[in-house]
Amino acid sequence: MREDGGDSLAEGMEAGQRLRINLQQARYFDGAVDVFDQEQPPHIMERLELIVEEARIQAGETVLDVGAGVGVLVPLIRRRMPGRIVACELSEEMLARLRSHHPEVEAYLGDVSDLPLPDASLDVVFMNAVFPNIVDKRAALGNCARMLRMGGRLVISHPEGRSFVQGIREVVPFPLDPLPIFPQLRRMLRSFPFKLHHYLDLQGLYVAVVMRQERRG
Ligand SMILES: C[S@@+](CC[C@H](N)C(=O)[O-])C[C@H]1O[C@@H](n2cnc3c(N)ncnc32)[C@H](O)[C@@H]1O
Repeated sequence: MREDGGDSLAEGMEAGQRLRINLQQARYFDGAVDVFDQEQPPHIMERLELIVEEARIQAGETVLDVGAGVGVLVPLIRRRMPGRIVACELSEEMLARLRSHHPEVEAYLGDVSDLPLPDASLDVVFMNAVFPNIVDKRAALGNCARMLRMGGRLVISHPEGRSFVQGIREVVPFPLDPLPIFPQLRRMLRSFPFKLHHYLDLQGLYVAVVMRQERRG
């Protein structure tokens, strides 16, 4: 996604570009595992709690955590008694750490755009602090729409908000998109069977709840 809300994919992404950027990210996050594997400050935990609450997880549901890192959301998700927690990650080191902390989680190495779970097999998908990192957002949204059941929820969030992401874009050694403002997100979702149900863009907290519906919204 560009600054103006345009979408680089609409103009055709070079075949190897996604793989190349994903590899850069995997290397970067492999090296950052100890930074992420730390106790979060209370104000961040409160915001993560709010984010997980927004998904209204019901007991027995299947929940996917995209770009799960070391699994910061996992204890918050587990408290809602889901039937199954699935994680997917580009970084082997992040995934290894997540597996060591949470062996009960089904962990997949790879891009969410390629995750081969069956159709309609998920109730909830979290994309926490990862949406700007996803290179092919169309492929990722399309695959999540396929894997989510009707009435399922996709939560796109960041516990430090849009301005934080804006600030780190200059610093990280890979391309990072801004978090989309409301009209941009609505436009991105237009070609999918998703409806933007709830959007919160505060200083220090970003949460968008997207519902899987029958037809394009
Ligand atoms: C900023 S970290 C956030 C980790 C975790 N969600 C958290 O809140 O602590 C972003 C993570 O997303 C992963 N990631 C980036 N693009 C991804 C993609 N397309 N599919 C799966 N994981 C991805 C990266 O490897 C990285 O570990």
